Parts: sequence; C-alpha cells; structure tokens
Amino acid sequence: MFTQIPKKSTPPRIRKPTIIIFSSLSIILILILIFSTNPCSQTTQILFPNFTPNYFKNTYNILYPNQETTPTNISHIVFSIASIVKTWHARKHYVESWWRPNETRGFLFLDQAPNQHLSWPPTSPRVLVSNETMGQKDVSRAIRIARGIKETFKMENTSVRWYVMADDDTVFFLENLVEVLKKYDHNGYYYVGMNSESVISNNLFSFEMGFGGAGIAFSYPLASILVKNLDVCLKRYRGSYGSDQILHSCMADLGVSLTHAKGFHQIDLRGDISGLLSAHPQAPLVSLHHLDSVEPLFPAMDRPQSLTHLMTSAKADQSRLFQQSICYNHPTNWSFSLSWGYSVQIYEKTIAPSLLQVPIQTFREWLPGARPAFMLKTRGPSKDPCEVPHYFYFDSVEDSGRWQQVVTTYVRRFPRRLPHCVVNGTHSADYVEKIIVISPVTRLQTEGSRRECCDVVHVEKENVTTIKIRPCMKYEMIG
Ligand SMILES: *[C@@H]1O[C@H](CO)[C@@H](O)[C@H](O)[C@H]1NC(C)=O
Ligand SMILES: *[C@@H]1O[C@H](CO)[C@@H](O)[C@H](O)[C@H]1NC(C)=O
Ligand SMILES: *[C@@H]1O[C@H](CO)[C@@H](O)[C@H](O)[C@H]1NC(C)=O
Ligand SMILES: *[C@@H]1O[C@H](CO)[C@@H](O)[C@H](O)[C@H]1NC(C)=O
Ligand SMILES: *[C@@H]1O[C@H](CO)[C@@H](O)[C@H](O)[C@H]1NC(C)=O
Ligand SMILES: *[C@@H]1O[C@H](CO)[C@@H](O)[C@H](O)[C@H]1NC(C)=O
Ligand SMILES: *[C@@H]1O[C@H](CO)[C@@H](O)[C@H](O)[C@H]1NC(C)=O
Repeated sequence: MFTQIPKKSTPPRIRKPTIIIFSSLSIILILILIFSTNPCSQTTQILFPNFTPNYFKNTYNILYPNQETTPTNISHIVFSIASIVKTWHARKHYVESWWRPNETRGFLFLDQAPNQHLSWPPTSPRVLVSNETMGQKDVSRAIRIARGIKETFKMENTSVRWYVMADDDTVFFLENLVEVLKKYDHNGYYYVGMNSESVISNNLFSFEMGFGGAGIAFSYPLASILVKNLDVCLKRYRGSYGSDQILHSCMADLGVSLTHAKGFHQIDLRGDISGLLSAHPQAPLVSLHHLDSVEPLFPAMDRPQSLTHLMTSAKADQSRLFQQSICYNHPTNWSFSLSWGYSVQIYEKTIAPSLLQVPIQTFREWLPGARPAFMLKTRGPSKDPCEVPHYFYFDSVEDSGRWQQVVTTYVRRFPRRLPHCVVNGTHSADYVEKIIVISPVTRLQTEGSRRECCDVVHVEKENVTTIKIRPCMKYEMIG
C-alpha cells in the first residue's frame, strides 16, 4: 500500500518571521502606492522580477483558441469501458442496453484478446486489449483500467469534448448524459461524476471522488493533461485500490476537484432499490450501476427483463425518467407520488412533499453495520397503514402523438395486505389496480426549473386512476 506516514511538524516560531513579513508587506504596500499613481509603472516586474505579465493568464484559452460553440451532442463523447474476458459475456447486455452502434464512440478494454475476436458483434463497442504489463509484472487491474484513458485518447482525439470512463456493468442514459455535460464549458478543466451512496465507501476513498462504476467524465483539456501525466500518477499511486482512486489522486495533483452530478449512480446498495428510484433527486438520470448486486428493478421480472423494460420508458422520454411529481386527491385525502416511467405510490393520508421526497428505505447497506449508512435521509420502512403506500410499477408506454402526449401506465404488482388508514377519514385505495399518467411530449428542462405539478382525475369507484402532469402555475404550492 502506498501510505504516507505524517511527519511531525515542528512547532512554528512566530515572532521574528512575523515581524519581517509585516515590515516587508508595508514596504510592498508603500511601493505599490507609489508606483500605482504612475501610469507607466510596471509594479509587478519591479517587485517580482521573474514574473512576466503573462504569468497570471489562464492558459487554456491560448491552448484552445478555436473554441467550438455548437451544442454538445453524442458525437463529442468518447467512452472507455473496462471489462475482462471472463465476465464480459455475462455483462455485455448492460453495455448493449445503451450503446448505439455507429453513433457512440469509444472502446471496450479487455484484459486479453477474446476468443471470438473475429466475429465480434457490431452491437458491442470495438475492443482494445490493454497493454497489461507496461514493462512490469503483476500490474493491477486498477492500473490497467486507468491506462484505458490514455489509449482511448491516443485512438480518438478529433472533435472530442468529453472522455467518459465506466465499467462494463454501468448503464448510461445517453440523452441525459449529453444534457448534463452540455451545462459545462468543455474548454475548461472538468472532472464530473458522483461519490457513493454509501458513507463508508466515501469515507474510505473520498467524498470528492468520482466513483468509476457511476461513470466519470473528463473534459478534453483535462484528459489531455491527465494523459500526459498518467505514467507519473500510476507510479505514485500504484498501491491504490481502484482506477477511480488513482484518477482521483491524479486530479488532486493536477489541481482539479470533482463536480458532483446527482444523476450518476454508483449504487453501493443492496436489496430492493425501488425506494431510491421512486424518490430520485431532481436531476436527469445519467447512470445506474451494480444492477447485479441489487434485486431486479421491477417485481415479477428478472434483471435483464427489468432493464429492457426500463429502457422502454427511457426511450419514450428520457428527460422525465425517475422525475418525481407529487399530487393529492382531496376528496379522499390521498397522496400520490410519481416517479415517471418507474412507479406510482398512493398513500391513504395527506403527506407533505418534504417527506414524500425522502426515499423509503427498501434497500440495505453496501457493507452491513455501517452507521450512518447512506448519503441520504431515508424513511421507514414502516408497518403503519398510513405510512405504507400502495405500490404501482411501470407497465407500458404509448406515444399519443396526435394529442401531444405521452401516456404511461402503472399497475399494482402485489396487494398491500394492510388495514385501511383512518387518520384522514377512512378511504381505502385497495380497489385501484392501474394508474394512467399523461405527460407532455416536450422534453423536460431540469436546469433551473421546478418539479412538475400534477392533477388527479378520475378516482371515484374506478379501478383505474388517471394523473395529468403539467407545469406548476407561477405561485402554486403543491398540496
Ligand atoms: C454534433 O455537433 C456537430 C457540430 O459540433 C455536428 O457537426 C454533428 O453533425 C452533430 N452530430 C449529431 C449526431 O448531432
Ligand atoms: C454501421 O455502419 C456500417 C458502414 O457504414 C454498416 O455496414 C453497418 O450496417 C452499420 N451498423 C449498424 C448496426 O447500423
Ligand atoms: C504494448 O507494449 C509493448 C512494449 O512496451 C509495445 O511494443 C506495444 O506497442 C504496446 N501495444 C499497445 C497496443 O500499446
Ligand atoms: C490523436 O489521434 C491520432 C490517431 O487518430 C494519433 O496518431 C495521435 O497520436 C493522437 N494524439 C495524441 C496526442 O495522442
Ligand atoms: C381529510 O382529513 C381531515 C383531517 O384529518 C378530515 O377532517 C376530513 O374529513 C378528511 N376528508 C375526507 C373526505 O375524509
Ligand atoms: C391528515 O392527518 C394528519 C395527521 O393527523 C394531519 O397532520 C393532516 O393535516 C391531515 N390532513 C388533512 C388534509 O387534514
Ligand atoms: C376494473 O374493473 C372492471 C369492471 O369493474 C374489470 O372488468 C376490469 O378487469 C378491472 N381492471 C383491473 C385492472 O382490475
């Protein structure tokens, strides 16, 4: 392990140096005052003879003078996906769920040449076999993966704005990824990603580290200086646990800190993550990871089926996927919480939005016993019939172009098996079997906007309930 034993610092002797600093500061101040009144003076050159006037200029504008200002699109992103031959077959459906042949750019890095190399399917990214040894033996997986960025850069560097690194079990939502990266100036030095949901993982590595499974984006200028210095970094941090840890240390050496983007999900969680996905933060969903470690996303479906199913709602409207809307049916005192394209929950009680946006803890810790476990507040799980919702899961989507609407339906997959809530009058929701959600076809702009509002229509004595999504009115309060 590369650990540094902290040196014992000698106690500072303050007196003398302080006096010297103060007196030299006064002299500098006096000099500045004298010279600043003279328009021809060159104060900096007199005080700091080695500094040229260019010293403080930002250098990237000089390096990249022809800044393209067209909107960022998928063609500006190059992916570097790490995998190994042994597990690739079992995981390739994750990559193929989002990879767009002839459209997405990038490579799959394998530890060795695959057997079926000649008949490599066109639906998968091109394969590069990473140069494992680098002249040394026992090169770790971490180093092999970190080197992927260098090889990717060497292969693809024209009209690239972003390099995105990920694992073979990372699932991207490409339109949302573009939408998120678009916000940042690709001519700047950006390291975009997200830390873990698990406090202990962040505490072990860093709260400011982009976790690799969630995907990490480097702007082109940052990738170019990273690649130049990569070998130095790999040497310095060769004992690191993961490639994302090496890259994080390297970022610190280059002086670039993480830009947290809430839609990247490492998913260092176990069990049923529907609670989290039913109360997603108000940000575009960019990625999901570790889907092998958690239960299938939908009840009564296996993992691959669940992913395919989720992709059908993503295809209809990626911008709204998992976006939460909250509305109330006052005649029954019910609360509705929608996670677009994924789930709807009905509570037989009026619950405030501030509480409904807190995920129900359906999931467990990544490592058992850690306290606090999660980077988010959670609710329940409860047995109180007023706190336990009726769960409905995404079933189908229909693009009703004629009406400029997208219609998604959600169905009850299991009975609630609890008595009614009596707090706000007894109004059982047991008879509701299906919920129809009507949303606008226009893309949702999340940046700087409010959550969308909704109205509940058709409730009484019907087993089908309909919800309409609309922009909130200017002074509207949800509730
Ligand atoms: C992406 O933008 C570039 C301009 O920067 C344009 O030439 C290209 O056609 C666009 N590609 C797609 C897929 O929209
Ligand atoms: C990709 O492009 C090549 C040549 O342009 C074409 O032959 C191939 O069918 C395309 N593949 C897909 C999956 O569209
Ligand atoms: C791998 O490393 C060897 C020796 O350093 C070098 O000759 C070869 O070109 C490298 N291959 C790739 C794909 O970089
Ligand atoms: C950029 O890519 C080309 C191949 O497309 C490669 O020859 C060149 O070395 C790359 N530049 C850098 C700085 O890696
Ligand atoms: C809703 O709840 C309030 C307070 O709990 C109650 O006074 C009211 O009668 C309830 N409305 C209905 C329709 O049950
Ligand atoms: C429903 O009951 C809760 C708890 O008693 C109360 O806080 C809330 O105001 C009631 N809702 C309505 C609409 O009266
Ligand atoms: C809803 O009720 C109608 C008749 O009351 C019935 O035919 C239909 O199957 C029910 N739908 C569901 C989803 O339970």
